[in-house]
Amino acid sequence: MRKIVVLLCCALLGVAAASAQDRDVVAGIPVNYDETKVGDYKLGLPDPLTFNNGKPVKNARQWKKRRAEIVKLFEENQYGKWPAKKPALRYDVQQDLGFDGTAVRKQITLYFTEFNDGPRVDVLLYLPKDAAGPTPILLNLNFSQNNLAVSDPGVKPGRRWDPKTRTMSEMPAMQMPGGMRFGMDATIKTYLKEGFGFATLCYTDITPDFEDNDELGLRGLYHTPGAPRADNDWGSISAWAMGVSRLMDYFEKDPDVDATRVALTGCSRLGKTTIWTGAIEPRIKVVMPSCSGEGGAAISRRNYGETVAHLAEKTRFPYQFCPKYGYWGDKVHEMPVDAHMLVALIAPRPLLLQTGSTDIWSDPKGEWLALVEGRKVYQLLGQDVPTADEMPAPDQPYYTTLGYVMHEGGHGIMPQDWTYYLEFMKRHL
Ligand code: GCU
Repeated sequence: MRKIVVLLCCALLGVAAASAQDRDVVAGIPVNYDETKVGDYKLGLPDPLTFNNGKPVKNARQWKKRRAEIVKLFEENQYGKWPAKKPALRYDVQQDLGFDGTAVRKQITLYFTEFNDGPRVDVLLYLPKDAAGPTPILLNLNFSQNNLAVSDPGVKPGRRWDPKTRTMSEMPAMQMPGGMRFGMDATIKTYLKEGFGFATLCYTDITPDFEDNDELGLRGLYHTPGAPRADNDWGSISAWAMGVSRLMDYFEKDPDVDATRVALTGCSRLGKTTIWTGAIEPRIKVVMPSCSGEGGAAISRRNYGETVAHLAEKTRFPYQFCPKYGYWGDKVHEMPVDAHMLVALIAPRPLLLQTGSTDIWSDPKGEWLALVEGRKVYQLLGQDVPTADEMPAPDQPYYTTLGYVMHEGGHGIMPQDWTYYLEFMKRHL
């Protein structure tokens, strides 16, 4: 039964999760899983606490300036830059009770234009029924449409892109064996019981997840037909981040939500989105990327598992990044950024890196090393960090402000990860 669920999930969600793991060559590029062949990740590794002009960063005030330099480097070399102006924001909210009357349920639609058939995002938000005031929230970026994420009658049908017709169509809840869906009900109910709200949205509502998507979704609003992509043109990850930023604007207007206490999580490409969103959207208070791997929190200079070259190869995911990203594929040691700087950009806010012990494609050790190399920024800002250099064993969480936990197992969010996130939120929100 479990296998059926996994297969269904992968097919439906388009997750390449386990696909590339275990292969020696991906997209014609060899994959290394031998620790003796990873090379020296420190070679050319930029120092987050040294300005581009070589001067040292000595205090929190100087860090602010250095931080701005690093954001720019990521915009120019990895994710691309947001257009100067955010899109318009309108929304409507349908409120009732969900989960058999036990929770407040809000179905929020964000519209980015004046037209209802323009790009729009459906957000599903549950709040504890007995909340005394504005509630802190966990926002989960989901591969699944809202009506497939929970078994809660009355959740609006989500929509799915067809890459062939390049249009979206509604997706009624699928009749899975036993009416099974994606089983987030129990998780959400646990969070509600602990006094947190839980919001989820399907990331492709914001902008699609396939190549040549320039004129579609949120990115489409900024596209000039026929215009070539600039080196720093935003990729889909940056566009997904902007969708979240717009949702923060909504949260600030919702009196039931404590917009100063929002945590964000998402897995895999949505883990990459989570950490980049945290970097450029300071209103996200707690950042918890899951298995973000290459292009996320794993050090790129380690030749282990997926590399920049794999990600940016033309048949894979170049559209998720800016065009310049691929340039670094065969000269990664010259790249002006690396994952430890992404870690540093979240400081002093709480960051929990969640990985999986057998998720070798995503390089859990590379994420640990990003923490080791990035922690001095947290320390400069007076925050607690793991001081050990050795990677912790599976399921031994560090709940320090800069935290790390590696579940025993592979790619994805495992049941115990929801418990780790909850504990981290309780300590830091
Ligand atoms: C692929 C890709 C990863 C990515 C993952 C996902 O495996 O190589 O970088 O994280 O897809 O998003 O599912």
